[in-house]
Amino acid sequence: MAKIVYGFGSSHGPLLATPPERWDLRAADDRKNPAHPFRGRIYTFPELVEARRGEKDFVKASSLEVRQSCFERNHRAMDRLAERLAEVNPDIIVVVGDDQHEWFYEDIQPSFTVYCGEQVINAAIDPQILKTKSPGIALAMSASHPPEDQAYPVPVGLATAIIEQAIADEFDVAVSMEQRANERGVIGVGHAVGFVYRRIVKDRPIPVVPILLNTYFLPNRPTAKRCYQFGQSIGSAIAGWNCGRRGFRCPHAHGHQEPRYQDDLRRA
Ligand SMILES: [Fe+2]
Repeated sequence: MAKIVYGFGSSHGPLLATPPERWDLRAADDRKNPAHPFRGRIYTFPELVEARRGEKDFVKASSLEVRQSCFERNHRAMDRLAERLAEVNPDIIVVVGDDQHEWFYEDIQPSFTVYCGEQVINAAIDPQILKTKSPGIALAMSASHPPEDQAYPVPVGLATAIIEQAIADEFDVAVSMEQRANERGVIGVGHAVGFVYRRIVKDRPIPVVPILLNTYFLPNRPTAKRCYQFGQSIGSAIAGWNCGRRGFRCPHAHGHQEPRYQDDLRRA
């Protein structure tokens, strides 16, 4: 049986990849955004400033000194996560995160998706896409993309077990078996997985099951309650996954990319 050996949650917020002296680039974007959601209502930027006036000392909190201290504290915490993960050295990582118009757009926007292709690629940054982004966003995107495409094996047996358990637990989960592509090639896995693999896993080829949530887009965002229940379902699937019976080979002998290991994954 498989066993959960470590669990963690991590922000992948853009300011983690933006030097504090350049955080104002994001404020420039925010000023252009006509629809800021805040506590159940939508505000323009000036309306939001007015609504939150007096709530907090925003001027002091946005001084360069405070920014720098927050930035360093966050990165110390990220470093601890990376060190802990290296110590634990898991056979597989299951990453649950948002998809923000990376694989899914207006044509189809599933609430929960389990990816179960044989591998997933975290693609190098696409210069064409970068050109369409504002300077603040372009800067932050660098944190989720490797200098060259990186391929990670996907343990199809575990991904399938998670899907089967989801169905048994009454989640009619979406399944993706093939990474999306456009005329320039494969579209890399989203930043939710990319950030974790760059910043915390440090691009090591640890097999991954990517699970994507619709975090933002109305009207089918799953509720926090459903996300919690889905997490429980994933936990049951892992605990009940008979990796030995399915022929899964433990990759701890640094054999992640060996052809025999890939064959085992296919049979799993
Ligand atoms: Fe995100």
